[in-house]
Amino acid sequence: MAKRGVFVVIEGLDRSGKSTQSQRLFEHLQEKTGKARLLKFPDRTTAIGKMIDGYLRSESDLDDRAIHLLFAANRWECAASIERDLLAGTSIVCDRYAFSGIAFSAAKVAVSKSSEGNEVRESILTYEWCKSPDTGLPAPDMVIFLDVTPEVARSRGGYGEERYEKEETQLRVKEQFRKIEQDVVKNFTGIEWWNLDASKSLDEISESIRNLVALPSDGVPANINKMWM
Ligand code: TYD
Ligand code: MG
Repeated sequence: MAKRGVFVVIEGLDRSGKSTQSQRLFEHLQEKTGKARLLKFPDRTTAIGKMIDGYLRSESDLDDRAIHLLFAANRWECAASIERDLLAGTSIVCDRYAFSGIAFSAAKVAVSKSSEGNEVRESILTYEWCKSPDTGLPAPDMVIFLDVTPEVARSRGGYGEERYEKEETQLRVKEQFRKIEQDVVKNFTGIEWWNLDASKSLDEISESIRNLVALPSDGVPANINKMWM
């Protein structure tokens, strides 16, 4: 009987090296098993993805809830094909997934001035609200979080021009990723969470990733879990 493919998500902040490592892991699995697929979210090529692209490049403004739902819808566009491929034995490497969806949206704050003139920051969307639109998506077997400090990100040429690519935002996003990690570790045993130090060399990191993926601690189960269920 053909075994199902393994579903690995690579997460991290901007400039953590996710895309390079996702590409390398994909090539490795492709070579090893002959059946691998590389995905990346947002997928800017679809109609929904084009709206997301315009928002990220600040060409358009959208309500914070509306853009959150578009990011989730962009994943739902792929949900059936992810499930189909995994069952057919294809392994999937995914560059960002629902975890980024929560982290970036739940990190958003509204800034106002108190009567004493101090800046007050209040979050706009609750953590639970941010989770709900991805509920039911195929869940990965493992999440590999590439942990990068603002200093290292800066030494890699700093952030780009897109929305969210600011140090203050990235720090708040990182806090949300920690919260998601705790949630996953405590409540979703079907998803393994690993943190890797992304300041190491590209080769060291890809070797660590290959070792983790070769040895999923319980093997790959036959069923596919659903996100947050
Ligand atoms: P990114 O992976 O940086 O894309 P690219 O490699 O094309 O630059 O993703 C773009 C931004 O979108 C990034 O700042 C994270 C953000 N994002 C969300 O806010 N929500 C989501 O659901 C996803 C997948 C990404
Ligand atoms: Mg980017």
